[in-house]
Amino acid sequence: MAQQPIELISYDPTACMMYPQGISANDLAMLAPHVKGARKEALEDLQLWHSGDPVPKHKQPLDAGFMDLPERLLAAYQEQGEKSELGQVLACAKRVQGLVDRVVVLGIGGSYMGAKALFEGCCHPYHNDLSRAARTQWAPAQVDKPRIYFEGNNLDNDAVQGLLDLLDQSGKCDSTEDSCAIVVISKSGTTLETAIAFRTLLAALRKHCGGDEAKVAQRVVAVTGQTNSRLRELAQAMKLPDVFDVPEGVGGRFSIFSPVGLLPAAIMGLDVVRLLEGAAAMNRVFREADISANPVLSYVSVCQLLEQLQGCHLRVLSFWGKGMESSGLWYDQLLSESLGKGGRGATPLTVVNTRDLHSRGQQHQEGRRDKLITNVTVSQCQRTPLRVGHSELDQDRLNSLSQKSYSQIMTAAIDGTNQGYADDRRPTATLHLPLLDEASLGQFYQMLMLATVVEGRLIGINPYGQPGVEVYKGHMNSNLRGKSG
Ligand code: PA5
Repeated sequence: MAQQPIELISYDPTACMMYPQGISANDLAMLAPHVKGARKEALEDLQLWHSGDPVPKHKQPLDAGFMDLPERLLAAYQEQGEKSELGQVLACAKRVQGLVDRVVVLGIGGSYMGAKALFEGCCHPYHNDLSRAARTQWAPAQVDKPRIYFEGNNLDNDAVQGLLDLLDQSGKCDSTEDSCAIVVISKSGTTLETAIAFRTLLAALRKHCGGDEAKVAQRVVAVTGQTNSRLRELAQAMKLPDVFDVPEGVGGRFSIFSPVGLLPAAIMGLDVVRLLEGAAAMNRVFREADISANPVLSYVSVCQLLEQLQGCHLRVLSFWGKGMESSGLWYDQLLSESLGKGGRGATPLTVVNTRDLHSRGQQHQEGRRDKLITNVTVSQCQRTPLRVGHSELDQDRLNSLSQKSYSQIMTAAIDGTNQGYADDRRPTATLHLPLLDEASLGQFYQMLMLATVVEGRLIGINPYGQPGVEVYKGHMNSNLRGKSG
């Protein structure tokens, strides 16, 4: 397989280093050996996980398997083609694309947020409103791309009823245009929100298929853990032709590059090979590059120094454009569930600008000095540049800007906002993506997953596991069913 070169994403923290309220080169140099030590530990964790040796108690749980998953999947695909796991994911996606025009992805937390982020980042912004033909034409690949919906991430009666109304309009599943499918994703296979939504939507799908169980089975794909999963038992009982594994040693919020993220992405028509190549490119930089040229290690250093020295406990990821809001929410979950433990851990916050300059901008400019703002910018628009244009009616005084493009005006907003923060000595950094595409997003997600585990090792918090979430799940279950669960 000939690989196209990957243009790397970059991280620039210089705007944090220009005044005493930020950090200095000396601070970075003092932290450097510790950050490199944390990288070493994270990589040793991976070796330990591969070795199958017993994991020491203080390291449990150890879900380091996500780290080299992109390389493992790509290598198997290269060697075994359609027999490999990725080959099977692609074949299943093709089957679903040809069979139905609506796909409901059921999952919560790490079991849907990556797929949602990819949907928003790479699909047409009005994907579900376009005709099937128009969706097929949309880049990157000219393949059928069903409409995509997300459920099983709440217990909201009216939201589910709304989805059922929509699916009811589909009529019988005789034609592709009328047909729908369910991709149900749960690693544990016991999460109540997802399980209940699955039961509800399965009943609707049965009706839709006129009670034909073979047709139903063709329209359901399950992605679940290999052990103790009730969802897997259900999938076996239903004789589903396609059931994919959430690999052992890969935690929910680290599973975007397993079938959890890859299957929905492939159904959306995204180039999942490119996504994995992007992630693998980030792994190379992470392993080999020195701190200043290593976005993972620089990002961890800057975030930690600002937290420790300047009390910046709030990490704002500030996206300049609408396509990455769900990527921000994916990171909110990753950081919160990984490092929000033992009374510690920074609080992440996603903002989308210029929209949120008109809601949060005041506070970020003049509020408490507890924030590091990391801008996330993209070099190029995917579409032809729009310009303001000339008008006979110039009451709005826009004719003086008539030749300016949206991108130029956005750049003026980015520069102006950062200038305002710099004038008030508020720390900012910039994470820069060459394009909003699979190669850049693959790097972006892998960078932030690696950064989260390195930071955890640096500050002595186990980034894996989610003991706090288990508390609510346990209480909810015993409230519903009594202590027996
Ligand atoms: O990161 C995690 O492990 C969680 O956010 C899980 O993804 C989430 O709780 C859903 O769990 P499951 O996939 O078991 O339904």
